[in-house]
Amino acid sequence: MKTTRYYALCILTLFLASGCYNDTEEDLYGAAVCDLTNVSYSLGVEPIVAASCYACHSQANAPANGAGIILEGYDKLLMAVNNGLLMESITHGANASPMPKNAPSLSACKIDMIKKWIENGALND
Ligand code: HEC
Repeated sequence: MKTTRYYALCILTLFLASGCYNDTEEDLYGAAVCDLTNVSYSLGVEPIVAASCYACHSQANAPANGAGIILEGYDKLLMAVNNGLLMESITHGANASPMPKNAPSLSACKIDMIKKWIENGALND
């Protein structure tokens, strides 16, 4: 009887352990499937900022929700790139308010994409 229970436990453990292999590649490797080649403003960065920041920092919403800080459009975003506050805020650095405000931080991949775009010259591409 005891042996049966022992085997049952072993099988259960195997089941639970093999559950790990159902993790998606993204869960397991994260950055490895994060495509950082040719991150452009229009196809990479702008959609991220639009989805996570425009609720407060679009031209229309900034006065009421975003302390007047507009990040909509290349020229406006570039200002936040150049004064360092864009990276500082999304990486929750000590010198800016953590963004997006009152929400979980951007995924590591999204942060890396924005970082890469800046490293490549923050082009209006
Ligand atoms: C829910 C509204 C809201 C969202 C969403 C939001 N912000 Fe903000 N943001 C604010 C407010 C309000 C401030 C003014 C500072 C404060 O209250 O913390 C601010 C300030 C900033 C600043 C200036 C920080 C400083 O310390 O001077 C930057 C840069 C910024 N936000 C970037 C972003 C980015 C990038 C996103 C998206 C990833 C984002 N914000 C999303 C509301 C928001």
